[in-house]
Amino acid sequence: MRDLDPQGVLDEALAQMATTPDPRLHEIMAAAVRHLHGFAREVQLKPDEWLAGIAFLTAVGQACTPYRQEFILLSDVLGLSRLVNLMHDAEGREAAGTETSLLGPFFRDKAPEFPPGGSIAVHDTAGQEITIFGQVTDAAGRPVPGAEIDIWQTNAAGLYDLQANDASVMDLRGRFRTDAEGRYHLRTVRPIGYSIPMDGPVGRLVHQQNRHGMRPAHIHVLVAAPGFRELVTALYFADDPNIGSDTVFGVSASLVVDAAMGVPGSPRPDLPGIRYDFRLSRRAAGETGGRVGADPSQIMPAAE
Ligand code: BEZ
Ligand code: FE
Repeated sequence: MRDLDPQGVLDEALAQMATTPDPRLHEIMAAAVRHLHGFAREVQLKPDEWLAGIAFLTAVGQACTPYRQEFILLSDVLGLSRLVNLMHDAEGREAAGTETSLLGPFFRDKAPEFPPGGSIAVHDTAGQEITIFGQVTDAAGRPVPGAEIDIWQTNAAGLYDLQANDASVMDLRGRFRTDAEGRYHLRTVRPIGYSIPMDGPVGRLVHQQNRHGMRPAHIHVLVAAPGFRELVTALYFADDPNIGSDTVFGVSASLVVDAAMGVPGSPRPDLPGIRYDFRLSRRAAGETGGRVGADPSQIMPAAE
């Protein structure tokens, strides 16, 4: 029997976990415990602070529903989601492939399907109508026909359908397919920048940190086609005042766009247009894929 000092507790915890049969679970939990102990020792964590942390995480869990994922929001504002995205990209995105961005907590599976040129603004049509068009290709520029493009965004008040309506309404989201040349076009309304949900524990933390809590105006895009890595990205509007200070660190220069009149080749020259070509990376042999995020309803544990 050994009396434990701080290093001894860590050593014992790691020793007890050494029996974990799954090697990856073992690696992850051992590193997590080492870093957690290191963190607590670095800040000399006090009992009331430890308890405040437990209460915070409890509140984060309690704020989750099939339509709200407060833990993903927490991961987003801490930069963890972007970090995992970057590491996932570094593993398999081809150099010429479109950069990725955050899925965020408002993605929903099975958005309505639209024909080419359809508008995803069905119920909530307020705002400047725009068109988005372009081509989906592989990283070498060869067209990808039949790719599915899933897009979603907020309304002109900065709310997603789940926030503005009851969950039965799917609006300002939809799926399109590329034609034989890999081309797509669609219509929507120009989104505005919006605040991440600030009415829960994560919002309170962001507030305590004196951060603005805003995301620059953007449209989410998920592009999928057989044989390619799923592309989860977003297009960000250049003129948004928070383009350089996104609360969840999602913006990259190559994803910044502008809706303008007179874009060559626009199928709707009467509307401000954005031309954006998406370049998919090939799925490597044995790659299991994996999105950084999910439809919140898919993450809730089954009711007991
Ligand atoms: C979003 O873009 O939908 C989003 C991403 C992270 C946190 C909140 C919202
Ligand atoms: Fe968003």
